[in-house]
Amino acid sequence: MTLSVISPSHGKDVEQSNTIAIELLPTFRSAISSEAGINSGDVGLNTPFADLGIDPFMTFSILEIVQQRIGVELPASLFRDCNNLSEIQKTLGHGADVNGHSLRSSNRPLVEEIYRESEHLVGRFAAEAGVDDFWTKVYPSQKQLVLAYIVEAFAQLGCFLDNEAPGTVLSTPSGILAKHGRLVNTLFDILADGGLVERRNGNQVVRTSQPVDSTPSVVLFERLIQSRPLHAKTHRLLNITGPRLSECLTGAADPIKLLFGRSTSRDLLEEFYTNAPMSVAASKHLSALFRRIFSIKGDECIEILEIGAGFGGTTKFVLDMLVDAGIPFKYTFTDVSPSFFKEAKNRYANIPAAAGCVVYDVLDIEKTPPEKFLGRFHAVLSTNCIHATKDLTVSSTNARKLLRDGGFFALTEFRTRLYWLDLVFGLLDGWWLFKDDRKHCIADESFWKTSLEASGFSHVVWSEAIVDGQKPNPQVYFACTE
Ligand SMILES: C[S@@+](CC[C@H](N)C(=O)[O-])C[C@H]1O[C@@H](n2cnc3c(N)ncnc32)[C@H](O)[C@@H]1O
Repeated sequence: MTLSVISPSHGKDVEQSNTIAIELLPTFRSAISSEAGINSGDVGLNTPFADLGIDPFMTFSILEIVQQRIGVELPASLFRDCNNLSEIQKTLGHGADVNGHSLRSSNRPLVEEIYRESEHLVGRFAAEAGVDDFWTKVYPSQKQLVLAYIVEAFAQLGCFLDNEAPGTVLSTPSGILAKHGRLVNTLFDILADGGLVERRNGNQVVRTSQPVDSTPSVVLFERLIQSRPLHAKTHRLLNITGPRLSECLTGAADPIKLLFGRSTSRDLLEEFYTNAPMSVAASKHLSALFRRIFSIKGDECIEILEIGAGFGGTTKFVLDMLVDAGIPFKYTFTDVSPSFFKEAKNRYANIPAAAGCVVYDVLDIEKTPPEKFLGRFHAVLSTNCIHATKDLTVSSTNARKLLRDGGFFALTEFRTRLYWLDLVFGLLDGWWLFKDDRKHCIADESFWKTSLEASGFSHVVWSEAIVDGQKPNPQVYFACTE
């Protein structure tokens, strides 16, 4: 199978399409009527498709039906370029001559095309996940809580920000382990963003005149839990390490033990990757794109590999979708650590799909993948993992090696820093492994584009949709092999 293009070479030629265009109307009418659930008599030649309730996803099903019936591949851009049946008739009737929107010129990668067509759904996924008011309603209180944890930790380490006179130059509180140097620098950034300090002459940190909010973190935490219950489990995860920040910084407490050593903490981690509103919005977006892309293809078994599958937050959505859509698949669940496999095996033991369709294997994406995986997969996906590797280009180059020609890499990664992540994952070594040109392990779209293109990918796409004033975070990137 190749996912690369829809081109006339797959179907019949343009001349033939001219004749076909004349005969196409009844086929389009019937496909529209069945997909939109309306009478074919209501599908007027000049009725705008939007008035018939046709959304971009529906247009793919309509095209598929028509293509199957007439045995000719049509441009995936047809519905984007045409607003009613009359325009479709004209476009197909003129074949290659209409404004360049021709069967022959429609050789843009299918993956990119589908991504663009789905852009309008990002807002809906955010609303369904409950994250469409995050930046205005949740983030400010979350930031305030993070600030309180840092102020309290600094006080426990002997640096009382409320006692420091404006203009006082602050130094790193004593007793902090050297390995947390980059984290401490980030904590100063957060204090600066909160207005409590400012940076001078590059790295100097100076206390400002802004008073410290004296509300204890425990009060802020309870308020946030009560007022934003949908995000409660995410904040409970933050509350594992937040109150213990000073101990984690000095080594008196072990963040790995705090986060992974108890089943209640592991449950909160799994809950975050699987059900946190931000994760759900991204997973819904990703699975909808997978569904679209793979539904266009026939009965061939789709091979998918997930890198750093860990708690399986994304896996769940993708597997549920594949089963629901009846797409035959083989899913290779990988992680650098096999410790995740036991739980994952239990979780997916009874999915209603062919036996052995989910397999488990160790894969370190910082190393050249083993021979058995090379050039094998139609899709490789990875959520919140590649950022934790030393070099995004090296890891993405390895990911590309897993793909067959025409395959694609689907990557879900935070696009901007969220301070609470620094207070949880920033305590772990993996957060600070980066040795490429990043300033922080979280990279923005332009950094990812550069890294993915340097890894040999083309057509790197992501969402520009603005929800509550921001682009999706995490962002879902798709990168094609050709
Ligand atoms: C933040 S977790 C994400 C978990 C998972 N993607 C989810 O959504 O549930 C990151 C995962 O990446 C894995 N990981 C870290 N470094 C890796 C590497 N070099 N190669 C493969 N996996 C890695 C970790 O073991 C961990 O399971």
